[in-house]
Amino acid sequence: MLAAGRPADLPPAGPPEIAFAGRSNVGKSSAINALLGRKGLARTSKTPGRTQTINFYELEWGARLVDLPGYGYARVPKAMREQWKALVGAYLDSRNPAAVVLIMDARHPATDLDTQLLALLGEHRVLVLLSKADKLPRAAQKSTLQEASSLSPHVRLFSSTTRQGVEECRDLLAQWLQADRGNKRPPVKGI
Ligand code: GTP
Ligand code: MG
Repeated sequence: MLAAGRPADLPPAGPPEIAFAGRSNVGKSSAINALLGRKGLARTSKTPGRTQTINFYELEWGARLVDLPGYGYARVPKAMREQWKALVGAYLDSRNPAAVVLIMDARHPATDLDTQLLALLGEHRVLVLLSKADKLPRAAQKSTLQEASSLSPHVRLFSSTTRQGVEECRDLLAQWLQADRGNKRPPVKGI
């Protein structure tokens, strides 16, 4: 629908939205494609920092998926980190996503920046996805899921490659989008 590079470019809030957040390269754009069953809709890349704008995808039945730029890539210049804060901060301050999908790499979940964002999201509805689960053997998947379950009431293993967890997450998000119609929660303040 639209790519916003500056706070002023953000579209007016409309249908319920689900925002996808997480470190650079964890698989946010890939998750959007997997959930929508559309291969190249959200652009993905091996190079961290691919998504630098906030990209809005409007679904036919009146909902939006919002791909946020990733954080935490060490080689990003300071000016760009500031730009991330301003843009993502403006997004979270100005609207009420029905939920935020916080994606973490199943191999290194809950980095400092992840837990900072989680704390900032406070009472907001959050689904934590442990992405690239296909890269972990079953036993390690199980223990990672157990450890991460203290982060949020909703934590799932996920893989865009093998589609592990995709249907289950799609059902949960669709349910939350439905429940959110007409809701007016306060925006997330404080980035
Ligand atoms: P930024 O936009 O840079 O913040 O990255 P992103 O979080 O949107 O990640 P993206 O979806 O572009 O994926 C980054 C890399 O990880 C790509 O090379 C993907 O193919 C790969 N990838 C994404 N999801 C998975 C997954 O579930 N399993 C595996 N093995 N690789 C994945
Ligand atoms: Mg991306």
